[in-house]
Amino acid sequence: MSFDLFANHNAGEREAIGPAAVVLRGFALTGVADVLAAIDTVVRCAPPRHMITPGGHAMSAALTNCGPLGWASDRRGYRYTGIDPQSGLPWPPMPPALTALAASAAEAAGFPHFAPDACLVNHYAPGTRMGLHQDRDEQDLDAPIVSVSLGMTATFLFGGLRRTDPSVRIRLEHGDVVVWGGPDRLRFHGVAPVRGHAHPLVGERRINLTFRKAG
Ligand code: SIN
Ligand code: FE2
Repeated sequence: MSFDLFANHNAGEREAIGPAAVVLRGFALTGVADVLAAIDTVVRCAPPRHMITPGGHAMSAALTNCGPLGWASDRRGYRYTGIDPQSGLPWPPMPPALTALAASAAEAAGFPHFAPDACLVNHYAPGTRMGLHQDRDEQDLDAPIVSVSLGMTATFLFGGLRRTDPSVRIRLEHGDVVVWGGPDRLRFHGVAPVRGHAHPLVGERRINLTFRKAG
């Protein structure tokens, strides 16, 4: 195993993947200890769980939320809610380290003044995937999606505006941030089954944060 197996080799680079979609390599590495500590606080209050889809299947990734609104799914459908259905309590507040990271990444991607009110926290164990989908449950489709990858490397699939459009495969490492908005806001996307080595800081899992303006 080489000593720099977990270094983010492209940190500082930006890769356009659409007219208003960009990968900011290593953007979340500055302050990542604070971000991981903030996630620990959130998951202690609202543990990640495998939500049930309207079709009756357990989702592959384990999900929790922080912020005024959280995304939830059950047999009745998908929705944003202020209350964690598992605890009956409000979702934990969005830690300032996370809000600041989301706002600065959005600004770097050309979306100033991004003020997310929802942060989905997805945990991917090895083998976990996420099928192609659009993020379309939010009220404000003018605001971008900011997606932060931590822990194990994953292959992100970024498709078009139709489910059948071809996808590009993008390797996302610990610290990479993807932002998509404007004409790219409703692009289909997903995650191939997570494989590979445990991450030295995060362990044998990948954590993804997606920030949205949902309400
Ligand atoms: C999502 O689309 O909600 C998650 C994407 C990812 O895990 O990279
Ligand atoms: Fe998504």
